Amino acid sequence: MSNALERRIEPELEQFIQSGTYKRLNYLDSPQAPRARMEGRGEGIILSSNNYLGLSNEPAVVAAGKDALDRFGAGTASVRFICGTFTIHRILEAACARLVGTAASLSFVSAWNANEAVPATMLTEHDLIISDQLNHASIIDAVRLAKAITKCQTAVYQHSDLTDLESKLKAAGDRRVKMVVTDGVFSMEGAVAKLPDLLELCRKYDGVLVVDDSHGTGVLGKHGRGTAEHFGVLGEVDIITSTLGKALGGAAGGFVAASAAVCDYLTQRARPQLFSNALPPTVAASSFASIEYLEHHPERVTALRENARYFRDQLLGLGFRPLPGETPIIPVILGETAAAIRMSDLLLQEGVFVTGFGYPVVPQGQARVRCQVSATHTRQDLDEALAAFRKVGRRLQLI
Ligand SMILES: Cc1ncc(COP(=O)(O)O)c(C=O)c1O
Repeated sequence: MSNALERRIEPELEQFIQSGTYKRLNYLDSPQAPRARMEGRGEGIILSSNNYLGLSNEPAVVAAGKDALDRFGAGTASVRFICGTFTIHRILEAACARLVGTAASLSFVSAWNANEAVPATMLTEHDLIISDQLNHASIIDAVRLAKAITKCQTAVYQHSDLTDLESKLKAAGDRRVKMVVTDGVFSMEGAVAKLPDLLELCRKYDGVLVVDDSHGTGVLGKHGRGTAEHFGVLGEVDIITSTLGKALGGAAGGFVAASAAVCDYLTQRARPQLFSNALPPTVAASSFASIEYLEHHPERVTALRENARYFRDQLLGLGFRPLPGETPIIPVILGETAAAIRMSDLLLQEGVFVTGFGYPVVPQGQARVRCQVSATHTRQDLDEALAAFRKVGRRLQLI
């Protein structure tokens, strides 16, 4: 006998299936890699992972996690300020700050938590937060949370529209703190934020710039130091949030990188710090090993860029119209959600794992398959994936 909640959601689940928007989980039975063993499907070419540098199964990264398990055990069984902080947390946080060019950093169990911590902890009812329209869901929820907790004002500016942002900053003269928040790399578009312009506007109006560089860290800039390095403005962004669950080892975790005062304030007051356990030491150690690896192997970043350029050019050559860009996120817009899921299913039948995204992850009518290449894809991996795209594209009369 189902309860009231189940009676409400069961028809909705059925509706997802009927409309072709139901998400079926695919299970990997081997490490994340350019090719992975997929339960019930055999080996597939993975073109939908954020494992941009291929570090999630890098021997040094795996070994660091194992060593940390031996040295520290599974975890502290406590939140950080009570007795839940290991030396590896301090080592990792120093490395994160060094990597992205800030004075300090503070780790969280996810970038989602890091994003939620910043405005809800740092703002007050006298302040304003202005968010890019296409920001990641964690930022959208962070803004909602900040509004509910602090009673700060909130606003959204049109995607990357500096005129709109400026008018909102101009109108906010009475606000003590004007926080502007943007993705560094927009995860569904692969577009890069106009960081120098955003910095200029923030300086002009005394704003505080927060950049979520989850898809920029390890990816953009000659050394993978992120969107700020890409634009030559390392050290100029007020607050950077990022993930350890993508290019930097791919396990989980995130961090806020900022001044010592901001990180200290978050340590004192951020609720996800005060009331939730820290990153497990295995993950902290693997993440630290990933940063060290990146610092010693800038050629991985170059390889990633070359693979992204190759795949994008070849897709264009086949007649697809991927969104223009320079990042390893390469979306092909298909329109309706069901079309994106259908294309993803057909590609999967050809042994290529590319996820289809529809509403509400992306706006209505802009469903897409999103390809993500890695530094460790070989030309053969990419060419086999492209052959599948040609076959499926013809079948769906897209090319
Ligand atoms: C831009 C952006 N921010 C934050 C996150 C959340 O990262 P995490 O998995 O570390 O919570 C993601 C993950 O999808 C993301 O794409």
